[in-house]
Amino acid sequence: MLGIGFVCIVYSLGVGTNTAENHPKLTWKNSGSTTNGEVTVDSNWRWTHTKGTTKNCYDGNLWSKDLCPDAATCGKNCVLEGADYSGTYGVTSSGDALTLKFVTHGSYSTNVGSRLYLLKDEKTYQIFNLNGKEFTFTVDVSNLPCGLNGALYFVNMDADGGTGRYPDNQAGAKYGTGYCDAQCPTDLKFINGIPNSDGWKPQSNDKNSGNGKYGSCCSEMDIWEANSLATAVTPHVCDQVGQTRCEGRACGENGGGDRFGSSCDPDGCDFNSWRLGNKTFWGPGLIVDTKKPVTVVTQFVGSPVTEIKRKYVQGGKVIENSYTNIEGLDKFNSISDKFCTAQKKAFGDNDSFIKHGGFRQLGQSFTKGQVLVLSLWDDHTVNMLWLDSVYPTNSKKPGADRGPCPTSSGVPADVESKNAGSSVKYSDIRFGSIDSTYK
Ligand SMILES: *[C@@H]1O[C@H](CO)[C@@H](O)[C@H](O)[C@H]1NC(C)=O
Ligand SMILES: *[C@@H]1O[C@H](CO)[C@@H](O)[C@H](O)[C@H]1NC(C)=O
Repeated sequence: MLGIGFVCIVYSLGVGTNTAENHPKLTWKNSGSTTNGEVTVDSNWRWTHTKGTTKNCYDGNLWSKDLCPDAATCGKNCVLEGADYSGTYGVTSSGDALTLKFVTHGSYSTNVGSRLYLLKDEKTYQIFNLNGKEFTFTVDVSNLPCGLNGALYFVNMDADGGTGRYPDNQAGAKYGTGYCDAQCPTDLKFINGIPNSDGWKPQSNDKNSGNGKYGSCCSEMDIWEANSLATAVTPHVCDQVGQTRCEGRACGENGGGDRFGSSCDPDGCDFNSWRLGNKTFWGPGLIVDTKKPVTVVTQFVGSPVTEIKRKYVQGGKVIENSYTNIEGLDKFNSISDKFCTAQKKAFGDNDSFIKHGGFRQLGQSFTKGQVLVLSLWDDHTVNMLWLDSVYPTNSKKPGADRGPCPTSSGVPADVESKNAGSSVKYSDIRFGSIDSTYK
């Protein structure tokens, strides 16, 4: 047989052997049956060093000039290391509960926040299809002040972390690879199994982070973004179903382009009770009292989904979601295409959710299957003001008022020093048919 030649570029993102990768175990309930899951920390948080030695490939917010002169060489030189979950990342689990600490002073480094994925076995993410289903969990946000975000959400990552589509990636889901979301993040150190080191620019206000020329886009269902003062539930969609790499301005704002210039909807269609006119619903001592743990129920009504409903359960009592209370906006207490169009119009926001396909596209991303993300983060771009304060900060427009936090709050340097001991606890995850998981 003659004639067919393959040019094989082998980048080979492998794994190190300094620390064994022992995932924290986490049980959850799938249609009533207890399921033994585990979690892995995202590859971005992991130590990356040369094979066989402890020399850093990435240090602070810079790639090593020697080891990573270009992405191909970098990929050949560098491996991802196993994680010491509690010692390095402040992540601990017990039974059905997972606790994420905000700042952890380890022996080698200071870690800020974390992002974890639920696995169904050691090397495969658990895949969920939310169409027609209900997702419930209990969360304790009492120790999350202004500027922090304890987030529980779904994204269209590959179940294997990308090893199937990108054989250069030998680390896979076991090592938390393959992240994507609707912001098309460019701060990922590896995308499609290849270091994102070419054109890497360190972030001026973040000593751990930078941005490469590529980003990683996919649909995102933010079931939960919250602290003790504010909360939002927000679907985001992309034109393509599944993880897709973007480059430069095509990654939108993160790639140095226009905010609405990517293939995804960066704003989403959010339901935040405060922003929608109810300032007595969510907070310490309020109707849903954030001083105590709260059970959060999210219903994806219809298959494919056409509506997202929210309920809270606290002290044995079911609390229905608040209704919108905004002049010129009909009353809604759930998310649907109709709500999204009306809300964007009332607030004068760009309706990029509907432009990128709205619920039709959301249903398709659910059908494709999504991975559960559990995280805790602070915001080096806009101090989380979009969630819990007035943003844009000088705006008097309806919709700019999103929460009670001062516009001066959430500065990473402040929260990382003053609120270092913050944490979030997620527990009792339940997935099943509508009305089956909380009564
Ligand atoms: C806020 O929500 C609660 C519970 O649904 C309701 O009783 C109250 O009237 C709402 N307040 C406003 C201003 O809409
Ligand atoms: C709104 O978003 C669309 C893409 O969804 C984009 O083409 C358009 O330029 C945006 N408009 C503004 C005013 O940003």
